[in-house]
Amino acid sequence: MLVTLSQAVALLEQGQVVAIPTETVYGLAADARSDDALTLLYQTKGRPSEHPVILHVADAEMCRPYVTEVPPAAQALMEQFWPGPLTLLLPRSSLVSPRITGGRPLVGVRAPAAPLTREVLQRLGRPVVAPSANRFGRISPTTARHIEEEFGGQIAVLDGGACQVGLESTIVEVQPHRLLLLRPGQLGPSELSQATGLPILTPQQVQGVPGALKSHYAPRQPVDLLSVEQLMQARERSAVAILSLRAPGPWPNAVHVRQMPEEAESYARCLYDALRQAEASGCDRILVEQPPDGPAWRAIHDRLGRASAR
Ligand code: TXA
Ligand code: MG
Repeated sequence: MLVTLSQAVALLEQGQVVAIPTETVYGLAADARSDDALTLLYQTKGRPSEHPVILHVADAEMCRPYVTEVPPAAQALMEQFWPGPLTLLLPRSSLVSPRITGGRPLVGVRAPAAPLTREVLQRLGRPVVAPSANRFGRISPTTARHIEEEFGGQIAVLDGGACQVGLESTIVEVQPHRLLLLRPGQLGPSELSQATGLPILTPQQVQGVPGALKSHYAPRQPVDLLSVEQLMQARERSAVAILSLRAPGPWPNAVHVRQMPEEAESYARCLYDALRQAEASGCDRILVEQPPDGPAWRAIHDRLGRASAR
């Protein structure tokens, strides 16, 4: 059910969960200081309790009491990229329940850019935790309607329109002499390295974040990532949904075809919607044309890789 801004704030104050818009994907928000709200949040999502959640703040000032230290590199990243699609892992203060970090010493913090959610955080005067507003393991929602469909209208949703970025935030651990890129996002490693003057290790070089499962963001049907040639060979297949990029159709027996944008930012913005529509099409398999290589496509490859992992 859709709620207004003041209703969203009131519900959060009462310890309820509310889906809120961000520029990346919708989050399922709960008061970060309430133990009962955290329990409700994990129950609603069906998420294992050891998976950490990100603390969402209005700005760097609201973040300060929740971390014990803001190293100069983190300071530089906040100044340059907040509010925006960047999550920083910093040492948590005693105000952060260990339940939020899955018992780890670092807490993920981010200041989302969506105006409605900034207003919610300012009025609330304290942070919320917000994992993506999908059931555990499923595709992140990028519109209010995705949430209504996923939870059958049971969740309070603050509708901020379609998400601008469409993929989850870049997650970075700030270490004394280097950065670790734990989840790729729209904001790429070279921009982060440039802003701090520090080298950055990429996911191939580090373990990734806890809770970042190999199979994730997944539709119910199997997803195959195919080259143009492979997709052309699959031309006659029936009962498939196709997300094509450059391969010329037609696919006479497909139940659903979506032409994806050739520009990475536009592709990212509609990817989750495209996967959800393909899933809903009644197909028994989703064939996705492999996007091009290159830095702008890194996060897209990451998510498609997880959507197709079994
Ligand atoms: O763009 C985003 O980050 C979205 C919007 C709603 O802000 N949120 C989001 O949250 O993607 P979630 O919970 O779906 O994914 C957060 C990821 C998880 O893989 C989790 O393991 C990791 O961040 N994470 C959060 N806190 C962490 C921590 N303290 N240490 C390590 N990893 C952490
Ligand atoms: Mg998620």
